Amino acid sequence: MKRKLNNILVTGGAGFIGTNFIHLLMDLPDFRGRVVNLDALTYAGNPANLSELEDREPDRYKFVRGDIRDRDVLSEVFRTFDIDTVVHFAAESHVDRSIHGSSDFITTNIIGSWNLLETAREYWGEREDVLFHHVSTDEVYGSLGKDGAFLEETAYDPRSPYSASKASSDHLVSAWHHTYGLPVTVSNCSNNYGPWQFPEKLIPLMIHNILEGKALPVYGDGKNIRDWLYVEDHNRAVWAILNRGRTGETYNIGGENEWENIELVRRLCGMVAELAGRDGEDCLSLITYVNDRPGHDRRYAIDCGKIKRELGWRQTVSFNEGLGRTVKWYLEHRDWVRSVTSGEYRVWIEKNYGDRKQNR
Ligand code: NAD
Ligand code: TYD
Repeated sequence: MKRKLNNILVTGGAGFIGTNFIHLLMDLPDFRGRVVNLDALTYAGNPANLSELEDREPDRYKFVRGDIRDRDVLSEVFRTFDIDTVVHFAAESHVDRSIHGSSDFITTNIIGSWNLLETAREYWGEREDVLFHHVSTDEVYGSLGKDGAFLEETAYDPRSPYSASKASSDHLVSAWHHTYGLPVTVSNCSNNYGPWQFPEKLIPLMIHNILEGKALPVYGDGKNIRDWLYVEDHNRAVWAILNRGRTGETYNIGGENEWENIELVRRLCGMVAELAGRDGEDCLSLITYVNDRPGHDRRYAIDCGKIKRELGWRQTVSFNEGLGRTVKWYLEHRDWVRSVTSGEYRVWIEKNYGDRKQNR
């Protein structure tokens, strides 16, 4: 049965990947439906990223400030907007934060996801023209040695509070499909980079610190490996799954682009130096090895053969191109970075969106 894809609920749409997803969706020639962005606006959510859409597309884009831990808000959103598709990005997403305090990771990533599943089940009943797409991470598969890559069949082995909470939510989604017949798909993606990423994750943090002349903290020996994917390519994969993904299936998404952290940081130094007219050697001298992250996964790599074969998805943005775009974006958006790192954006949010809980 053909999926409706008319009224899409995007959770966590004010965060990094969600913001990019909504911008992509609103500009796609083959999508004329409505997007409802439900976001609690934690430290990682910034509705300013999308506020121009509220003016440009008032009928097609709605922002609701709401928490996925609040079942009443979810029911109201489903009813008010007749939701037929869920793209579930909302999560606590930073491993280091999960090590320092896991409470919100458990309540948002696990209980919030359960709330969303229950609300969808209640509202949709036996419908088959609907879809609950759950966005997850490759970190649920654990850590790799020198060789190999994660497949969809790889056994789960999460090792941080973050990845354990995401693994739990993946299992809930799968259980709701098998037990209740809820139409679901799941994607497990490698590390994303691009515009609007909060400058606590490796790439934006390093760009910001280079520009500020601050130390570049490299954990451990710097030889941990991540597989980097430009955020737009991730989002195009999600769109392909919404349209053509088989119900009940999981799709791995990755960059096939593995980098040791230290090599990546050196490359960023060179790129920022060139684009910002800085001295390359000065930038490199900022690199500072610091204590390792506890339980630091050594290597991630994704085998994304399935989504390529079945859905015809491909990466379209090379690492050089994507990093160049990202560095340029951060250079051109120093105000955005300053606002989110100083906390100024919280004042703006409360002024402009403080009453949004009632404004649906
Ligand atoms: P992010 O931290 O930038 O954004 C998360 C968003 O969720 C924020 O806008 C935040 O306000 C919102 N949120 C948090 N708790 C909420 C709650 N209780 N109710 C409603 N909204 C809430 O995260 P991101 O990097 O954009 O990641 C989005 C999703 O993609 C996450 O599920 C993450 O696990 C997954 N993912 C991320 C990556 C990556 O490299 N960033 C890779 C693979 C998968
Ligand atoms: P991060 O961006 O936090 O993503 P994840 O832990 O989800 O993969 O980190 C990417 C890699 O960079 C990871 O191996 C940890 C390392 N890292 C540093 O060395 N220094 C830093 O300041 C940060 C934030 C990360």
